[in-house]
Amino acid sequence: MIRVEVNGEERQFEGDPDMPLLWYLHDLLELTGTKFGCGMGLCGACTVHLDGAATRSCTIPMKRAEGKSVVTIEGLHIPGDHPVQQAWREMNVPQCGYCQSGQIMQAAALLRDKPKPTDADIDEAMQGNICRCGTYQRIRAAIKSAAGVRA
Ligand code: FES
Ligand code: FES
Repeated sequence: MIRVEVNGEERQFEGDPDMPLLWYLHDLLELTGTKFGCGMGLCGACTVHLDGAATRSCTIPMKRAEGKSVVTIEGLHIPGDHPVQQAWREMNVPQCGYCQSGQIMQAAALLRDKPKPTDADIDEAMQGNICRCGTYQRIRAAIKSAAGVRA
């Protein structure tokens, strides 16, 4: 049995320990905000926080989540008013929206580690999160807005 905390709730998983965390979150817990994109750690659509670190949930087998804390987009801020989420709304960042949960989780982890990120910090943190709709400029502006830095 694998014990894992998801969005503050203790869970027990008795299935295949090699199942990707993404499938557990999306299919079994029905936390569908976390998306499947590439399944290979290359796009960032599946980004969650694992013990506070932005992590590609498609690459993490359940056995590596044992005893850890997972936060998904649904648990980032229950009413959805995390500063990053507020900035995302103000800047109308999403287009199709598919990548955006991952983008927000990545950005939230960046701002926790670096509350006033430089452009280089943003580029480095966000480079692995792909947006097929090309919302990169709005993402950058929203991160700066959330950080209280002039966009
Ligand atoms: S689905 Fe996980 S990084 Fe693309
Ligand atoms: S908003 Fe469509 S993939 Fe990013």
